[in-house]
Amino acid sequence: MPLVSPLIPNAANHAVNKALYDAYENILTTLHQGGKGRLKHEERGKLFVRDRIKHLIDPGSAFLELSPLAAWQVYDAPCAGIITGIGQIEGRAAVIIANDATVKGGTYFPLTVKKHLRAQTIAFENHLPLVSLVDSGGAYLPLQAELFADREHFGRIFYNQANLSAHKIPHIAAVFGSCTAGGAYVPAMADETIIIKNQGTLFLGGPPLVKAATGEIVTAEELGGARMHCQTSGVTDHLAENDHDALVLIRRLFRHITTPKLLEHHADAPLYDPKELLDLIPANPKEAFPIYAILARLLDRSEFDEFKPLYGQTLVCGFASIMGHHVGILANNGVLFGESAQKGTHFIQLCCQRGIPLVFLQNITGFMVGRAVEHAGIAKEGAKLVHAVACASVPKYTIMIGSSYGAGNYGMCGRAFDPRFLFTWPNSSIAVMGRDQAQSVLSTIESTDTASPTNESTAIYSSAHLWDDGIIPPWKTREYLGLAMSTNQSPAVDSRFGVLRM
Ligand code: COA
Repeated sequence: MPLVSPLIPNAANHAVNKALYDAYENILTTLHQGGKGRLKHEERGKLFVRDRIKHLIDPGSAFLELSPLAAWQVYDAPCAGIITGIGQIEGRAAVIIANDATVKGGTYFPLTVKKHLRAQTIAFENHLPLVSLVDSGGAYLPLQAELFADREHFGRIFYNQANLSAHKIPHIAAVFGSCTAGGAYVPAMADETIIIKNQGTLFLGGPPLVKAATGEIVTAEELGGARMHCQTSGVTDHLAENDHDALVLIRRLFRHITTPKLLEHHADAPLYDPKELLDLIPANPKEAFPIYAILARLLDRSEFDEFKPLYGQTLVCGFASIMGHHVGILANNGVLFGESAQKGTHFIQLCCQRGIPLVFLQNITGFMVGRAVEHAGIAKEGAKLVHAVACASVPKYTIMIGSSYGAGNYGMCGRAFDPRFLFTWPNSSIAVMGRDQAQSVLSTIESTDTASPTNESTAIYSSAHLWDDGIIPPWKTREYLGLAMSTNQSPAVDSRFGVLRM
């Protein structure tokens, strides 16, 4: 059924939402310049990392960049010194992981590791080939304690590389600069590796370390230069003349991998202009979101076939298409009650039985509280929804369109519930609870601690800490979801649910 939703213009909402997005775009413009080593990098005749990606992907195709805000205001490392995303190479979708050597020699900060691991997870879950454009001095030594020893630290990158390859997910790497220690293992563990003549070097310890350890004096080129590795050690497989040549070579190697090519999906636009979302997102987050009007601007032909429209109305569920992909939608429409949680659980099971991907539009302050709902067992109803979300094996996609508080975050497929992609609108906020509520809880337990500052729950803070895959313009949500869904090449897996408490 097409949704009917003529716009009632709201200039105040529009102004606030536009200002939020413009502020984000200003940050992006700064970040796109890279680090302070840019001049030295380009004087060496090397391409800037963003230009490498531009020349690598198919001309005119889109690059779905992930988490460009990583590390923003955490440390002075634009994009955490690594660009990750999904691009199209020779008609195939691929995860691209590219070090930015202009940021502290491409070394790995803790959030660089997290971003690299996230890109590998996306490759694994969607069964996408990987390309690594390597230009990294390994670990950022001043923060080594925060990035080396633990399970999800640097070593996990190599563990994942081995296991991705074992799962028949191809990985091609190209060495664009000096790759030392940890930086050397990425190309050394790839399936097929290119290195650039008189530019790329690869060694476990550089000349200063060799001298200190063994007294041997050796140049970088002798120790781990491109010709040596292609001719003598066999660590690398292909010799490239320069950056451009290496990128052409990657594209040629892509002709010999066998993952499926991307398919065109026919899609009809919504009946209402997605740009009107700027008028619809309430400037005051405490105001109710007009969720049907929002859906009317996200779905193909604005068509939505609602499930149980009269029951549990604070969770809107139904079938639709987004950019030609058939999906089941779960969208918040107020605080979650037991009935809405039950309905969500039922709907998730329906979609899993039919193999239909789930899209969560998250704007949730949490589950209802109070004597009546506790007596009615809201904890077990909420647990059912959380359980169903956790065990649903169909691809899940989450968009944070407003608030994301408390267990509502879990029931609506927050980061811990493995959505394939999680994108955030600039207006959204995320925390255990709102700051006022947190302060009031702390005062009732007579704590002298104060609630964390509000800026820790903003979309920008969330994205800087990699709690999401990036902030997106609300009016481009369809395109982002469409791209994300078209990359899925993983085989279907039956969902198995555990004990649902009745
Ligand atoms: N940890 C912390 N900072 C590092 C670093 C590391 N491993 N490697 C480089 N840096 C910093 C440098 O101090 C410099 O910082 P600055 O811009 O604030 O002065 C910046 O990164 C760029 O390094 P620089 O040597 O000037 O640039 P370059 O392009 O000529 O060389 C490297 C880059 C990475 C090849 C070179 O710095 C290097 O070999 N580093 C040591 C690598 C290493 O031994 N890693 C082992 C850890 S696993």
